Amino acid sequence: MVITKRKGGTKMEKKIDEKKLLSEAKEARKNAYVPFSGFTVGAALLTKSGKIYRGCNIESSVMSPSLCAERVALAKAISEGEKDFVAIAIAGALEGETSKEPCYPCGVCRQTLSEHVDLSTFKIITEENGKPKTCTLSTLLPNAFVFEK
Ligand code: THU
Repeated sequence: MVITKRKGGTKMEKKIDEKKLLSEAKEARKNAYVPFSGFTVGAALLTKSGKIYRGCNIESSVMSPSLCAERVALAKAISEGEKDFVAIAIAGALEGETSKEPCYPCGVCRQTLSEHVDLSTFKIITEENGKPKTCTLSTLLPNAFVFEK
């Protein structure tokens, strides 16, 4: 279980198992299709109900159809009817390597995620020197573009 409930004062608070979510992202990374960049990325998107959707990057020889791991995971979840998301873990490095640096979502993925999550509570979980590093999406995308009709 990636979400556990713990008592924080009087109200029940949900705790995300960041290490477990990162290990799901690392599993997803193994399926990356990266003949052009050689940079493999895996993502694991966690729903409020505790379900995890994995994604990996899938590159294309004509470049623009290339997909980032985060948007693959999001598309899988949205197309299955999911609407409530709490966190995404991301693991990225050159093929066969382990990165010491955190892999943050690109600008396109930040914007796409922002349209489906609560910016101030949704967590981005990366890894730095083997340890989970977490921030909210609003810290990575301040003043996000919001389309209003
Ligand atoms: N990539 C992702 O999948 N997610 C990110 O957050 C950053 C970049 C992919 C796109 C491309 O296939 C490769 O990494 C190098 O940019």
